[in-house]
Amino acid sequence: MQQLNNLTLISIATQYGTPVYVYHAEKIKAQYQQLTQAFEGINTRFFYACKALTNVNILKYIGSLGCNIDCSSINEVKLALYAGIPAGNILYTSNGIAFSEIEEAAEAGVHINIDSIANLEKFGKKYGNTYPVGIRLRPNIMAGGNLKISTGHNKSKFGIPIDQIDEVLKVINQTNLIIKGLHIHTGSEIKDVAVFVEGIEVLFDLIPKFQHLSYIDLGGGFKVPYKEQEEGTNIQLLAEEVKKAFAVHPNPNGQPLTVWFEPGKYLVSEAGYFITQVNVMKPTSATTFVSVNSGFNHLIRPMFYDAYHRIQNISNPNGPIHHYSVVGYICETDTFAWNRPLNEVRENDLLVFYNAGAYGFEMSSNYNSRFKPAEVLVLNNEAHLIRKSDSFEDLLKNQLIIL
Ligand code: LLP
Repeated sequence: MQQLNNLTLISIATQYGTPVYVYHAEKIKAQYQQLTQAFEGINTRFFYACKALTNVNILKYIGSLGCNIDCSSINEVKLALYAGIPAGNILYTSNGIAFSEIEEAAEAGVHINIDSIANLEKFGKKYGNTYPVGIRLRPNIMAGGNLKISTGHNKSKFGIPIDQIDEVLKVINQTNLIIKGLHIHTGSEIKDVAVFVEGIEVLFDLIPKFQHLSYIDLGGGFKVPYKEQEEGTNIQLLAEEVKKAFAVHPNPNGQPLTVWFEPGKYLVSEAGYFITQVNVMKPTSATTFVSVNSGFNHLIRPMFYDAYHRIQNISNPNGPIHHYSVVGYICETDTFAWNRPLNEVRENDLLVFYNAGAYGFEMSSNYNSRFKPAEVLVLNNEAHLIRKSDSFEDLLKNQLIIL
């Protein structure tokens, strides 16, 4: 059973209150297994992009599956270490950060991808050939579900533009730096396998310029279905294409290359459910508003990216279908869905948002002085509270009252 049923969700909402994020461990495991099975026989290493969901229990669970962890900040590195992930299984793919943070990552002994020439130079001067690193490149490829989550194009801030490769080589020569990997990440929600192949082609052109490569890192970005009937990235096809690409381009440097991936959404998006409760119904001439006890303080994706999240009224799954606009209680326009067909909605009904595992809780805030929601992990068919919702004290925790 990969999808949590309505009864389980209702009982969790009853026990822990709403709003609440619920994660299904078995689904995460199934997704990870699909990846590893598809890439069987290909030299791959998967690093879960933990920015999608960093609860330490999730990190521990994903680590226990044999998956590595990709981090985007030093605090994520510290969380992964705290979760018991060995430094050798942690990757820090930095972006736009101060050199001191890269030094901290190096002290922790994790793998590092450096994304600017300035930091590469500082790193080379300090560590020379003693700490091999990867470099994050910008391949000038347009990809991803929308521009806000597209990161490899020629106006993107991410990575060192490939047209600056000669400068990179100069820094390497001057500092004896050892480059062990080439990294790209072109975006999130990339359905088209050809985009990954294009990325590989770009990297293969560069490989002969580097003497010590042991990996190429293609980043994350596998698409998962958000809408009913929608298709995600065909992982099987991707694996076949990666295999083909390696057959056409045997590594010119001789040593075997491992392919690294950093999936975030693929591992946790579908494993997550966000349960809210209807505060009030408001029929108007334009639409019937359903106000739930949440808003973009808890799930910002619909407002920030126009992202679509499937919604279901689990309190009335067989009720007649009507159209509703689901909105939040934040004192701003926080529309989750406009004129969406739902089973008849009544005050106090429970509405579930699907695909809430990735970038849901993680992007939540205390805006309007609302509490962040609780998180529950369903493991071996048992629901465990893995984060309490905030309390009033949390709102005051770091304030220093001087008046
Ligand atoms: N690797 C790097 C270097 C990344 O920047 C990201 C995501 C990933 C891996 C994982 O990408 P994924 O497999 O999850 O697509 N908040 C946005 C998504 C932003 C992704 C940022 N980087 C959303 O909710 O759609």
